[in-house]
Amino acid sequence: MDLTTASFSIKTHDSRKTIRQIVSEMVHNHDDREDQDDPFFICDMGDVIKKFTRWRRLLPRVEPHYAVKCNPDPAVLATLAALGTGFDCASKNEIKTMLELSVSPSRIIFANPCKQKSHLKYACDTNVSMMTFDNEDELHKIKRVYPAAKLVLRILTDDTTAQCQLGLKYGCHPKHARYLLQVAMQLDLNVIGVSFHVGSGCRDSSAYTKAIASAREIFDIADYMGYHMDLLDIGGGFPGQASAPIAFEEFADVINCALGEYFPNDCGVRVIAEPGRYFVASAFTLAVNVTAKRIVSRDIKTFEVPESKDLVSNTVAPNKCEEPAYMYYVNDGVYGSFNCLLYDHAVVEPITLTDHTDELEYFTSIWGPSCDGLDRIIEHTTMAELQVGEWIIFKDMGAYTVCAGSEFNGFKRPVLYYVLPNKLRSSMQEMLQQENKEFAKKQAIKYHKRLTADGDEGGISFAFEDERLLCQSPTNHIRA
Ligand SMILES: Cc1ncc(COP(=O)(O)O)c(C=O)c1O
Repeated sequence: MDLTTASFSIKTHDSRKTIRQIVSEMVHNHDDREDQDDPFFICDMGDVIKKFTRWRRLLPRVEPHYAVKCNPDPAVLATLAALGTGFDCASKNEIKTMLELSVSPSRIIFANPCKQKSHLKYACDTNVSMMTFDNEDELHKIKRVYPAAKLVLRILTDDTTAQCQLGLKYGCHPKHARYLLQVAMQLDLNVIGVSFHVGSGCRDSSAYTKAIASAREIFDIADYMGYHMDLLDIGGGFPGQASAPIAFEEFADVINCALGEYFPNDCGVRVIAEPGRYFVASAFTLAVNVTAKRIVSRDIKTFEVPESKDLVSNTVAPNKCEEPAYMYYVNDGVYGSFNCLLYDHAVVEPITLTDHTDELEYFTSIWGPSCDGLDRIIEHTTMAELQVGEWIIFKDMGAYTVCAGSEFNGFKRPVLYYVLPNKLRSSMQEMLQQENKEFAKKQAIKYHKRLTADGDEGGISFAFEDERLLCQSPTNHIRA
């Protein structure tokens, strides 16, 4: 097989190198960027792999089905597919992407409780049978289009403290569950389990306990009605970055404990989850260039803008006698990767690439490149004075960022560079070759065959070549 035509490559590097050092190198080596000052992402695939191992260690009973919506980057999807995770897809296109990566339909859950009819038809044609529902009309639609589907009832849980609430839109009230199960039974539909989502960016680990207890009650009702459900889907909500208010370890403890109480090991229930941000948030670092700068005066307003709380903005006139404040303009903003500020209620922290330790700090605001006043990244912080052309880094930029960015005003999306520390090279190889591990079995065998024999069709293939890990999808649909 010709791996030189690989769909993307991951550059391996000395494990002692920090992401900051890698960013510094990329600033000068802009082969894949049209212009040297274009913004770029570093995706540390080692971080994704570490998250996978951590998940397996801390939540061994729970099979992760990565939520594709969170970051559908092809290299991330291919890596997770090769490691053996399942996938949560919300649309025909997401399903298609995963099938083209040779992921078996049985490893996909169509986790959108309100599906477009043609997408449901596509799921039927491609045997993606596991799917969620939360309302009566959906049951009738499924009966017409895909009567053999395996249905998972999504219930409402308390997500009031989460970073992004989903309960406003989805989930049947547990009190309504009995009725929906009755309708499903009258329609002769196959309900195999219960799912929930405690809200994205969950800030209350006990939300899982309550939701798992609630799911147990529905299992008991279903059992009484004659259904024998055997799937529990605990959704997403897990933290993706070290700075999250609650550590993943705490969530894992609480979940293991609740599963032990309500769904003990020998109860015959398969447990899956739909983590999104957990796998990708900390793997992506964004580097943006300071393209322009404006000096204003701290606290002196030329005119009042009603309702405005702006501390550092253009409504503050420059005044030589006053302490200066700075506005910086960078080349990615809320219409691009920082859409997470609007859609994901994210809070981001700027880190300068140049070391400014011990320098005086000034009131600062940071703005995106588009000509829209809404395009502000940081309303107010304090930083040393920066020069036009300097680089600013934003860590933890992998979740709900690249997926919804636009090219508004003609600003191109940042280029992505994939990296992998050398010390993970062998563990990645090992992980991909663990033929007997039930979790990654199918993909690992494919991978192994790829390495040893020509002519095997299907499967994602990875191979190390010099300093790079090359990946090729069977249908060449992965492009990066
Ligand atoms: C149905 C469903 N599953 C999983 C996720 C992923 O959630 P998270 O990124 O919080 O893990 C989402 C996010 O919106 C979702 O809507």
